[in-house]
Amino acid sequence: MTSNMQCRNQFNLISVNDFKNSDIKSIFEIADSKKFNVKNGGLGISLFFENSTRTLLSFESALLNCGLKSVRFDVSSSSIAKEETVINTIRTINSYSPDFLIMRSKQTGEPLIYQKYLDSNTKMINAGDGTGEHPTQALLDFYTILQVLNIKFSDSCLKNITIAIAGDIMHSRVARSNIFLLSRFGAKIILISPLSFLPQSIRNFYSNLGCSFAYTLREIKANFVMLLRIQKERMEGKARLTFPSNFGIFNEADLNHAYLMHPGPINERVEITEDMAYLSSKSLISKQVENGSLIRSAIIKFLSDK
Ligand code: NCD
Repeated sequence: MTSNMQCRNQFNLISVNDFKNSDIKSIFEIADSKKFNVKNGGLGISLFFENSTRTLLSFESALLNCGLKSVRFDVSSSSIAKEETVINTIRTINSYSPDFLIMRSKQTGEPLIYQKYLDSNTKMINAGDGTGEHPTQALLDFYTILQVLNIKFSDSCLKNITIAIAGDIMHSRVARSNIFLLSRFGAKIILISPLSFLPQSIRNFYSNLGCSFAYTLREIKANFVMLLRIQKERMEGKARLTFPSNFGIFNEADLNHAYLMHPGPINERVEITEDMAYLSSKSLISKQVENGSLIRSAIIKFLSDK
């Protein structure tokens, strides 16, 4: 994706590719230091067109951690229900001159389009757009991987690491941002998906980025398995797909010694069991949630100082 800095004289976060390696290094250093306080505070507004638990909560707590005020725009009780357009909603939000607009959208590409309706003192952060990207999730996943293996950040710090991403790859912005980001730092990525969740066009796209492929977790050996739920709400009226009954992580043996990651929400007994998610010593799911607030705080601090 072309850097949005070309069209606005400021720093937005739409894609993981908007951050240079040195930016990511700074963000991880801020996270380690836990020094988030932004001089003179400011205002952050979250505008979520899709449901969210972790991302919304962590962004709102991150704004507070940084000393900013946090306002949640409630789409369901807003004038959008009176058929006001998203553009006019963004224009209205812009009148309040927030420092940050944190936007989650159902449609791929919306934050990139709508950033141009904001004045240059407002930074747009993409909190997930359709099947596009989820840059802050990928950054917190990357941070979690380094933390758990005690790896020092460098441009090739993941060169000996294999990461399997398993499940509904086709509809996953988490997979997309993680593939862009983790492969950039040298990780070997294996995509594991029933054929119906990985059509040939998407397979070709990821193959060109250096990913390899498998059909079941039992065929591979990885350091980390990132599991994805079936994202029904992103299927746009297509026939509802299901995983084969043996697809998923239901006991330790299914992991084959890998660490287990999942961005949440989990669908228990579809791709994972509650025991594997919350009781297994290999599960990093709670750590990912914890790091969600930490990394988003560091991103807000980093962008505030730009
Ligand atoms: C993901 C998302 O919204 O893309 N969840 C998240 O942000 N924690 C993954 C998903 O919806 O399955």
